[in-house]
This record gives sequence, C-alpha cells and structure tokens, in this order.
Amino acid sequence: MSGQSGFQLKKGGPEVYELCWVQAQMGRAAQELVETTGVASGHRVLDVACGTGVVARTAAVRTGTSEFVTGTDVSAEMLEAAARFAGNSGFQEISWVECDAAHLPLADAAFDVVLCQQGLQFMPDKAGAMAEMARVLKPGGKLGLSVWKTRSALGSAFATVLDAHFGEGTTAPWEMVYSLGNRDGLHALAEGAGFHDAHVVLDVKFARYPDTEAFITGALAGSPLAGTLADLPEPEYKTLIGKIVAELAEYHDDAGLAVPSQCLTLMARK
Ligand SMILES: C[S@@+](CC[C@H](N)C(=O)[O-])C[C@H]1O[C@@H](n2cnc3c(N)ncnc32)[C@H](O)[C@@H]1O
Repeated sequence: MSGQSGFQLKKGGPEVYELCWVQAQMGRAAQELVETTGVASGHRVLDVACGTGVVARTAAVRTGTSEFVTGTDVSAEMLEAAARFAGNSGFQEISWVECDAAHLPLADAAFDVVLCQQGLQFMPDKAGAMAEMARVLKPGGKLGLSVWKTRSALGSAFATVLDAHFGEGTTAPWEMVYSLGNRDGLHALAEGAGFHDAHVVLDVKFARYPDTEAFITGALAGSPLAGTLADLPEPEYKTLIGKIVAELAEYHDDAGLAVPSQCLTLMARK
C-alpha cells in the first residue's frame, strides 16, 4: 500500500521512526541540544530515552570516542535498532542499556552531560527519572532535556482527519506528546531533583521533508493506528492521506513540507 513512499505500514517501529521523524526533525534538534549543552571532547554523555539513538550518535561526534557515550531506553526494539544504526555510522562503541529511566542501572556521578530529547513526557515516574538523571551526573555536570510545548499543525492535521474518520477521541492518546509542555512544570521537576541554575528556553523546531505524502505515510506507520490503517482498502487509505496532506497545504516552502513545533528545552546543572 505505502511501498511507493518507501515506508511499510505494517512494519512500523524504529525503522520508520528513523526514516521519518529523525530525518525530518529529531536529527537537527539533536544537533542543537548537543551544541547547547556544550558536549565536548572527553565528556561522558548519557542519552536517556534514546529511541533510535540520534542524540547519542550526535554526542559521539563531539566526545571524540563513542566509548564515552551511553544510550538507555525502556524499549528493547528501539535499542536493537539504535545499536544497528550506530554501528552502521561508525559508532560501534556506544553502550546501550535497556531500562526504565526511573531506575538507571548506572553508577553515581558517572557522566558529565545527561541528555533527554522528547522522552520525559512519556514516563509515568517523571520525578523518579529526574532524580536518576541527577544521581548519575557528576557535581557541576549538565542536563539538557526537551519536550514539545503544544500540538503542532501536524498534530492538528492528524487529529482533524483521523478523528473525523475513526471517531472523536481516536487521536486523544497522542496528546501525551505535549503533556509536559509547561515551563513551571519543568522548573518544579528540576528543583525537586536537586538541579541548580535551571533555565527553560522556548524555540521552534521545524519538521522538514521533501515529500509530504511520504512523510505522512511514515508518521502514520509509526503511530498506534498503523495496524488499523494497514487493513483499510487502498482507496480509503489514499483518501485519508490526501486529506491530511491537504490540511498541511500552507506548511510548505520551496524545499517541501516545513511544519513548526514549539519546543521547551530545560538546561540545568547538578
Ligand atoms: C519520541 S521518542 C524520542 C527518542 C529519542 N530521544 C529521539 O530524540 O529521537 C520517546 C522515547 O522514550 C522512550 N521511553 C518512554 N518511556 C520511557 C521510560 N519510562 N524510560 C525510558 N525510556 C522511555 C520510548 O521508548 C521512546 O524511545
């Protein structure tokens, strides 16, 4: 069904996440996070909720050796893909650890920098995860953590079309993506975990992709609706994709799809 776009709807998972979201948005955001936190040669870096590992790989470019970088995630599937993508990119030495962020099986004060890109909002024990990130940081070490602030035009386009088709509230669970999008909440979590000099920055990250239909297909393939969509008759599926693409008509420049998302980045020190 979606073969033309290069995504396999039934496959989903990490491959689609990497091809779609990392390429469109997370890769550039990772670059900015790593730069802002000042990851430098010789630093020991932890990437919490690493997903397919884009932040860990980006950090490894700066630490000088991937041996100094560790990625953790609760999903074994994500970590398996992260190890594969890192290996293919020459970062074979990154360590990958499967664990809940609220229980890091890592030593106290082991890292100079802890990064967590778009992960904390999904965690049931946010305070526990923050406490663990503080514990594994060296005194004076830096935290750099990002969350989406509000629903973007992409989220609105999906909600409008998919809720109309499958029923009101179908995409309501997706709101978790923006569930920690407030500055006060981030400050409270940082303070509760004992961080100092907490500073929250609001900026805009663009999701950019040359082919809008391919991006929408990929985003849906990685969504909880992937199975349902894969079972739709081809014409019905195509109509849905077309409606979502139409909703995004104004979010284009000469290079293709360009959709802004508001992002909050918390910087703090142990
Ligand atoms: C949107 S992805 C972000 C992945 C990656 N940080 C990036 O920038 O591409 C969210 C990740 O959080 C992970 N995650 C969710 N809950 C978690 C938890 N309690 N502990 C660790 N990781 C968790 C998921 O498995 C997923 O890989």
